[in-house]
Amino acid sequence: MKTETITRELMLINGKWTEAAGKEFFQIENPAKRGTVIAEVPRATAEDVDNAVQAANEAFDSWRKVPARERGRMLWKIADAVDAQFEELARTIATETGNALKTQAKGEAKGVVDVIRYFGGVAGELKGETLPVDNQLFAYTQREPYGVIGGIIPWNAPVQLAALKIAPALAAGNTIVLKAAEDAPLGVLKLAKICADILPPGVVNILTGFGEECGLPLAKHPLVRKLTFTGSTQTGKIIMHEAAERIIPISLELGGKSPQIVYPDADSEKVIDNVMSAMRFARQGQSCSAGSRLYLHKSIYDSFVEKLIAKAKLLQVGDPLDENNDMGSIINEKQYNKVCSYIEEGINHPDIELLLGGLPPAEGPLSEGYFLEPTIFAAPHDDLRLAKEEIFGPVLIVIPWDDEEEVIKMANRSDYGLAAFIWTKDTTRAMRTANLLEAGWVQINRGGGMMTGHSYGGYKQSGIGREYSLESMIESFTQTKSIMIDFDE
Ligand code: NAI
Ligand code: MG
Repeated sequence: MKTETITRELMLINGKWTEAAGKEFFQIENPAKRGTVIAEVPRATAEDVDNAVQAANEAFDSWRKVPARERGRMLWKIADAVDAQFEELARTIATETGNALKTQAKGEAKGVVDVIRYFGGVAGELKGETLPVDNQLFAYTQREPYGVIGGIIPWNAPVQLAALKIAPALAAGNTIVLKAAEDAPLGVLKLAKICADILPPGVVNILTGFGEECGLPLAKHPLVRKLTFTGSTQTGKIIMHEAAERIIPISLELGGKSPQIVYPDADSEKVIDNVMSAMRFARQGQSCSAGSRLYLHKSIYDSFVEKLIAKAKLLQVGDPLDENNDMGSIINEKQYNKVCSYIEEGINHPDIELLLGGLPPAEGPLSEGYFLEPTIFAAPHDDLRLAKEEIFGPVLIVIPWDDEEEVIKMANRSDYGLAAFIWTKDTTRAMRTANLLEAGWVQINRGGGMMTGHSYGGYKQSGIGREYSLESMIESFTQTKSIMIDFDE
C-alpha cells in the first residue's frame, strides 16, 4: 500500500492512550484512493478488552454517584468541544468513510453535537415511580445504571453511532467500553480525545480492533452487564448468542430493506428529491434505513421513472472532500465487490432491467477509489434477491403496484422492518397505510434522517430496542429497582 502521511493513533483505556497489548497496529485505508493508507491504529485483542472492562468497572462506582445533571453538564462540555472542532471532525469522517463532506460528513459531525447535547439535557429525567399503598407502606421504584456497557459499532456513520451509545449510557450513570469499526476508527478516536479531557478516567474506553479478535471478547466479558450493537443482522445474531450465555440485556440496531410506497398523487419533482434522499444515494446507499425498494403506482410509473433517472444522473460522484460532489465512495474493497456482484446479478437477470448506472468504469478517476454511480433497476415483481437482501450500496429497485392492499403485503414481505416511506398528499390514506406497515420508523412525505428525541429502531430482524430518545435511554441503559418500606416499628 502507498503510505502518504500516516499517523499512528493510540486507543483510550482508563484515561490513558495506549498501544495494544500485542503491540500490533493495523492500517486504515482511504476508500477514495485505493491502496492509500491514512493511519495506523492499535490491533486490540482480548487482553486489551479485559483491561478496558476492568477500568470501566472500577470507574463505575464513583461515576454512578455523580449527580445525574452534573453528568449531563459534562456531556454538554463534550458537545461544545465537538462543535468547536466540527469542520475537522467532518473531514476525518469523510476521509476514512468515503462519505461526501457536503452531503454527509458535515451533517454527521453536527448530528454528534446534537445527540450528545440532547442526552446531556435529559440526564436528570431518570425518574422513578411511587405506588399508592396504605399508610403503613411506602413503595417506590428507581432507575439504576447497569454498570459496564459493551458497545460495538459499524463504519457507516461511525461517530454518530459512537455518540448514540456513549451519551445515553453515561447520562444514565453507566460506564462504557466501545469498539470502533475496523474501517472507520479515526473520528471515534477524535471524540475519545475530547471525552478523555473532560471525563474521569475509565468512564469512556475506546478500543480499535477487528470483530472476532476484539468485538467478540467484549461481548463475552463477564463484567459487561449490557450489550449494545449496531451493524449487520448476521453479526447481531452472534452477539445475541453471547448475551444469552450470561442472560444480559442487549440492544440491536441491524439491517434493513426498507420500502417506499408512491401513490398516484405523488408524481412530483419534490417527491423525487425526497425519494432519492430516502434511498440515501448521497451515502452511497450505506444506511440501515435506506429506502431501497421503490413501489411505484402503475398510473405514474413511466413519468416518475423518467424524472427519477434524470435527477439521479445529476448526482456528482467523486472525491468526498471536494464539496462539488454529492456522493463519495463505498467503504472498502469487500463491500465494493459485494455491491458490484449484486449489480452484475441485476444486469444478467432476465426479469430485471437496468435503468441507470451499473458496473463502475475500469479506468478513469472513478476507478481510483471504490466509487459507484447511482444505480436503478426495474422489475415487474419483488421476488428477487435484489429486492429482498440488504445491498448496502447505491442500488435502488423499482417495482410497480396498483392495489393498496397488495403493495402493503409486498412492503411487509421481508425479514427486516426498520424504516418505511409513504408518498401521498392524502394524509388519511397515508396514516392508514402507516398503521399497517411492519416497520419501526415510518415517514410520510419525508426522506430525511432520524430526529433526536424521537425513538428509532427496528421491527422483526432489524433489531431490538430503540435509540435517540429519553424513553430509549431509560429502556436501554437503566434497570428498575423496586423498593418497599414498612413504617411499622
Ligand atoms: P458487521 O456487522 O460485521 O460489523 C459491525 C461491527 O461488528 C464492527 O465493529 C465489527 O468489527 C464487529 N464485528 C464483526 N464480527 C463480529 C463478531 N463476530 N463479534 C463481535 N463483533 C463483531 O458489518 P460489516 O462486515 O462491516 O458489513 C457487512 C454488512 O453488514 C453490510 O453489507 C451491511 O449489509 C450490513 N451493515 C449494516 C449496518 C447497519 O447500520 N444496519 C452497518 C454496517 C453494516
Ligand atoms: Mg464483517
